[in-house]
Amino acid sequence: MKIQSARSSTTSPDKGIVSSTKDLHSFLEELEARNPAALLRIRTPMDTRYDITALQRKLDQVRRYPVIFVEKPITYEGKQSQFPLVTNLTASRELCAAILGMDPRQVAQQYYERMTRRLQPVVVDRSEAPCKEVIQTDKINLWELPVTIHTEMDPGPYIGTSFVTTIDPETGIDNMALQRIWVKSPARTGFWPAMGGHNWMNLQKWWARGKDMPVAIWIGHHPAGLAGAQARLGYPESHYPAMGGVMGEPVRLVATELFGDQIMVPADAEIVIEGYVPVGVIEAEGPFGEYPGYIGPQRPSPVIEVKCVTRRKQAVYHDVGVGLADHLMMMGNFPLEARIYDLTKRAIPEVLNVYVPLSGRRNHVYVQIQKTRPGIGRDVILSALTADTRLKHIFVVDEDIDIFNEEQVLWAVAYRSQWDKDIVVIRDMATFPLDPSISAPGYTGAKGGIDCTMPPPLGPGLPRPFQQTNHPPAEVEKRIRLEDFVTPGQLSKFPGQI
Ligand SMILES: Cc1cc2nc3c(=O)[nH]c(=O)nc-3n(C[C@H](O)[C@H](O)[C@H](O)COP(=O)(O)O)c2cc1C
Repeated sequence: MKIQSARSSTTSPDKGIVSSTKDLHSFLEELEARNPAALLRIRTPMDTRYDITALQRKLDQVRRYPVIFVEKPITYEGKQSQFPLVTNLTASRELCAAILGMDPRQVAQQYYERMTRRLQPVVVDRSEAPCKEVIQTDKINLWELPVTIHTEMDPGPYIGTSFVTTIDPETGIDNMALQRIWVKSPARTGFWPAMGGHNWMNLQKWWARGKDMPVAIWIGHHPAGLAGAQARLGYPESHYPAMGGVMGEPVRLVATELFGDQIMVPADAEIVIEGYVPVGVIEAEGPFGEYPGYIGPQRPSPVIEVKCVTRRKQAVYHDVGVGLADHLMMMGNFPLEARIYDLTKRAIPEVLNVYVPLSGRRNHVYVQIQKTRPGIGRDVILSALTADTRLKHIFVVDEDIDIFNEEQVLWAVAYRSQWDKDIVVIRDMATFPLDPSISAPGYTGAKGGIDCTMPPPLGPGLPRPFQQTNHPPAEVEKRIRLEDFVTPGQLSKFPGQI
């Protein structure tokens, strides 16, 4: 099947992968045309029950991150779905940075600026909205979508790319958040709005009024739009201007079928699910293979009664590799790096760069600084920890350490720290409840960091009171070039390390 855009698109040579009207179709079409090696097409039928996730994990283990396009997914009910599935859309740091027109090693600095941009959405008529090409109000069966079961013990198929859109009944202002949807039966789902999140706050208000909460869930858009939609904002505040700001063009909105212009959804989404969260109905949700890599417990959670589904005729279903790079990279770590950089740089101007590595699954942060003064490594640890509840361990290193190379970071831990004086530990801080090492019920835990920097220079122009690193003379390092001795073919066959 050829991926075709609903409208024509153009490209900008200096801005990475962009198109004039951005949606998932235009993105995939452009990717296939301009960077086909980044796309893995699976043309044979493939089961949505574990198999797609298993393939994604195998690729993750060898650190390869193509966008995966499954032409013939087999659904939860064992039938071939009419909808192809795309996953791993936001898994490669390089590709995600290219989508945003950024340097993958400078995301912390560049994404912050992008996050502050706002572009007001525009409202379009239903007739101009691809997500209204098919409207279904009876015989709804969400199991016709290729909704995947990701990991063992998940109780059923979960939509992991569902942007749940609700409104604050006091102000009428909308909120949206990526929140998982467990498709329990053809027209009924569970979902888990974490306590304190803005959808959770809206839910409390609707239920306090004794009313079912209206909800619209949209799936599939241009990946830059998805990143923008996930912006952390104040409450109540619509996410659509931030989504447009990151995407670089206004989001085209359209009224929902059930709620009119009270709840608007992106006209260029692939699929929209509308319904109600019935007042007072709480059921067990999960267990679920959570992003830290552990099976999270069942939680008492609300449900959604689905009343309407609208979609494109040739909708592409977007899935996400839960807990894998696909989940963590663009929709989580990019904005996190930007916020940590902004916060720490304001307090300690010597901060140079920030990286949230995949290995720590959001619990770890590597911060690179120019150590000009004693003590600033510890200051950075304290400042960074306040950027987000999920952060746990901060590693501070010097400017000669490549923070994107974990071997170098660990070398700094090994030889530039003394644990009796370089470790900062703060007990009983607020935590994210998905860390199994925290004592139940999991609201607080220890956080801290390690200052792996050398002492600062003794004075301007003076050396650092620390042993120098060893290496051949600079002239020799420059003169001896690998390519003069080995071909790329030879290089790839040489014995390596596991
Ligand atoms: C793939 C993915 C799945 C997520 N699933 C959930 C979820 O099921 N429940 C939840 O509360 N947050 C989930 N999150 C985190 C929220 O999307 C995030 O905290 C968001 O900023 C909340 O925004 P809000 O407070 O404005 O509603 C998920 C994030 C990602 C990237």
